[in-house]
Amino acid sequence: MNLLKVDALAKAFGGFNAVDGVSFGVDEGEIHAVIGPNGAGKTTMFNLITGHLRPSSGSVRFAGADITGKRPHVIARSGLTRAFQVTNIFPDLSVLESVECAVSARRRLSASLLPWQRSAARDEARDLIEQVGLSEMQATTASTLSHGDQRTLEVTLALATRPRLLLLDEPTAGMSPWETRRMVELVRTLVRAKGVTVLFCEHDMETVFSISNRVTVLHRGRVIADGPPEAVHADEQVASVYLGTRKR
Ligand SMILES: Nc1ncnc2c1ncn2[C@@H]1O[C@H](COP(=O)(O)OP(=O)(O)O)[C@@H](O)[C@H]1O
Ligand SMILES: [Mg+2]
Repeated sequence: MNLLKVDALAKAFGGFNAVDGVSFGVDEGEIHAVIGPNGAGKTTMFNLITGHLRPSSGSVRFAGADITGKRPHVIARSGLTRAFQVTNIFPDLSVLESVECAVSARRRLSASLLPWQRSAARDEARDLIEQVGLSEMQATTASTLSHGDQRTLEVTLALATRPRLLLLDEPTAGMSPWETRRMVELVRTLVRAKGVTVLFCEHDMETVFSISNRVTVLHRGRVIADGPPEAVHADEQVASVYLGTRKR
């Protein structure tokens, strides 16, 4: 059984079908990539999965339950989380404070924490920060971090909710080659060490084909290929619409 199952999912904006009958599954423990040209419908589809948009039709099942049209916080509580721009959430908090906030939110601790609760949340936050390699930055204000460190912090905040499935929308966008490699390593480690399943959409083909167990290709709101990276890479239709000139 798939951990996530998207079935005939569709979203129309006015008369325009941004997502047009998409079906695919994500297996537990996989790194699953969604690729496609700009405007293919990747972000819209993620928003449908996480409950930030309501589908026009179709269904989304997660861990065996129908989550179609459920509200984002309900879906997040069930273990399906996405990374959000940290500068929109906690711009003035330090790395440690923001992760501590996310940990406390998961533990449903209020602002009036008892000292031992606070220290447990802080310890967990420190552990997470160490795992993602941001220890040296823990006192730094989120909005002053480098772009790469901000994106890493976003993944850390999502991890603090202890997701079963983590969605990442272009996690390496705007990153330097070094930052990109670090993000790729982080995602690999999460899947291996924490048992998180990752569904991500991505521009950078090298990242996609080096890291994914499965690739789904969207084009104009539809799936045009879905399979192991080697098969997708060799697919003629994918080559013509997406990978540009065919390499032989
Ligand atoms: N809220 C919206 N209202 C109208 N059109 C939208 C909206 N969101 C996205 N679109 C359109 O839907 C298509 C898919 O967009 P998007 O999902 O952002 O693609 P991708 O993430 O693959 O680049 C685009 O043509 C975009 O202009
Ligand atoms: Mg997008």
